[in-house]
Amino acid sequence: MADRRKIVVTSALPYANGDIHLGHLVEYIQTDFWVRFQKMRGNDCVYVCADDTHGTPVMIRARGEGITPEELIARSHDAHLRDFTDFEVAFDNYYTTNSPENKALSERIFAAMEKSGAITARTAPQLYCEKCRMFLPDRFVKGTCPKCGAEGQYGDSCDHCGGTYAAEELGGPVCTTCGGTPVVRDSEHLYFELEPFRDFLREWLPEHTTSDVSNKLLEWFGEPLRGWCISRDAPYFGFEIPGHPGKFFYVWVDAPIGYIASLENWCSKTGQRLADWWPGADGSGEATADGVKPELYHFIGKDIIRFHCLFWPGMLHVAGIRTPDKVFVHGFLTVNGEKMSKSKGTFVNARTYLDHLPGWALRYYYACKLGGTTDDMDLNLVDFVHRVNSDLVGKITNLASRGAQMLNKTALGGRLGALDEEGRALVELARSRADAIARHYEDRRFSQVPVEVAKIADAANEYFDRRQPWLTIKTDVEATRTTLTTILNVFRILAIYLKPVLPAYADKAAELFGEDPWCWEDVATTREGESIGQYEYLATRIKPEQVEAMVDAAKVKPAESGEVAHESRASKNKASNGAKGEVAPLKSEIAFPDFEKLDMRTGLVLSCELVPKSSKLLKFELDCGALGRRTIFSGIRDAYPDPSVLVGKEVLFIANLAPRKMSVGVSEGMILYAGEPGKSGGVLSPTSPAGAGTPAT
Ligand code: 2FM
Ligand code: ZN
Repeated sequence: MADRRKIVVTSALPYANGDIHLGHLVEYIQTDFWVRFQKMRGNDCVYVCADDTHGTPVMIRARGEGITPEELIARSHDAHLRDFTDFEVAFDNYYTTNSPENKALSERIFAAMEKSGAITARTAPQLYCEKCRMFLPDRFVKGTCPKCGAEGQYGDSCDHCGGTYAAEELGGPVCTTCGGTPVVRDSEHLYFELEPFRDFLREWLPEHTTSDVSNKLLEWFGEPLRGWCISRDAPYFGFEIPGHPGKFFYVWVDAPIGYIASLENWCSKTGQRLADWWPGADGSGEATADGVKPELYHFIGKDIIRFHCLFWPGMLHVAGIRTPDKVFVHGFLTVNGEKMSKSKGTFVNARTYLDHLPGWALRYYYACKLGGTTDDMDLNLVDFVHRVNSDLVGKITNLASRGAQMLNKTALGGRLGALDEEGRALVELARSRADAIARHYEDRRFSQVPVEVAKIADAANEYFDRRQPWLTIKTDVEATRTTLTTILNVFRILAIYLKPVLPAYADKAAELFGEDPWCWEDVATTREGESIGQYEYLATRIKPEQVEAMVDAAKVKPAESGEVAHESRASKNKASNGAKGEVAPLKSEIAFPDFEKLDMRTGLVLSCELVPKSSKLLKFELDCGALGRRTIFSGIRDAYPDPSVLVGKEVLFIANLAPRKMSVGVSEGMILYAGEPGKSGGVLSPTSPAGAGTPAT
């Protein structure tokens, strides 16, 4: 292939002190879709990852379990890899940051940083626990927020008011490990100064990530960029900083370097040169040997953008190492519209899920929901069962099961025939979407893939039902063969399209046709006249009871549900929703005649979409029965990160409100919503009231 690309892809490295959960998988699964797609296209794509093993939480956890940090990280490595494998996430190398490669690379990059003059030393006060004999990281101390007085807040920011501060400012600080009272001690630390790279970073940012991400980070450029503290005091599980005894690299220094270390480790296993894959990383400054410029991409969650889009490019730039081509940022996972919750059983570990449900089902559902933006993504458990059963199994897989079983079990003898004109047209229709679907994969608009596939499947099912092969088999065997040949060829193309999402499914489907694992170009071939193999189940329906059992198994009693430090990125939610029991102030009283003026009606939501460039608005199209159709704009986007969940619901709206001209269009009414967007509540529906007590807004 003339324009075969060389691509290095990473997902953020999971911490070694915790389990993989469904929030993490949002990232690994989508990265895997993208990597598998690139491989199917014939590109040389390498997907590397590793466990993020250093830092205080790993050290404390190991201490608590009476094992060494090395034992803990070895155990986690195995468990993580097992989870990923069972979700069909296929790394080319899954390594560890506690490796000789990473140590050497960290030392070399730090030496370059020091040499450039970007490392400074400053003394700063810090909380120290005399009982634990260690300086306390922010997440290991709790106290009263200096801004709003809320109790039980961590040392970096307040969940109640969202304020940020230094840990020493907390009132009544307590060490979360031993319960003791820490003292303030001075300690000298090393800082990586970013101000010298202001111009480089300001230019780099907008070109290497989306505008919402770069704009957020560029807000910091209004004042001098603050240096980043990159050292930690002993005891610390990590790499000691050369020339600075007793000081260790902060975990976030050697974590991204772990991407390169994992790639280097892959290179030595496969006989490749690191410089050919990550120019500059081997310190030789040599250009790539084969002249093909490798592309580098990081997939990350939106909570770790400053590490990947400021500190990391700064470090690489100073060290003369290639910076990533793009940082792809995704949002967090909510479950049933809410932050994942241990007490509700929606904080589900990968293994708990796998104990009850198949990995491919989650992959399919995530594909349906991932749009390639930083918006949060909702796993609605009812919708999950529905989409898997009705679309993947009912609509798509059924083509293969009905088609192949009929071909095998009847007088047709398992042999495909030739397509007739109508069949050829249908197969061509399926084939004609190949470029569009490839573009969706390339641009990470994964949710468009199942949409395209379902559309084609609809056409194929319509054809199947119209041709009635179950009747024609009794009267016209060859016409039936033609029908089934069409159906199976269409299915084959759909399975190729779905292969990055459902790799095992697609491999099994390829076997049905007696083919080797498919690549993208296989869309171009048609199977005629050949015998097919026995049909083996590709995907079977999932049951709501399986989901219920999973939720039950994931449920943790409130007393046990404390969050672990280093809590994963993908499950973190937006700023806190305010203290329990807090209500919006009541608006002033209105007279009954005012209320009587309101004409409330119900409408069926035909569509509900995000309004481009608006952070608040959703656009509803309602079927209002005798009143016809109405378009209503509603400022409740915060409450519905995925507004498609409202489609098909009945909602209450005020029908006699004067139409309002807005910048995005005319709004013909007001949807009733109880609660505060982004906090609690939902639209009011005649069938499922969202709750009472708060004003409709
Ligand atoms: O947020 C996290 O889970 C980190 N362990 C991610 C590290 S990504 C990279 F920089 F190593
Ligand atoms: Zn302590």
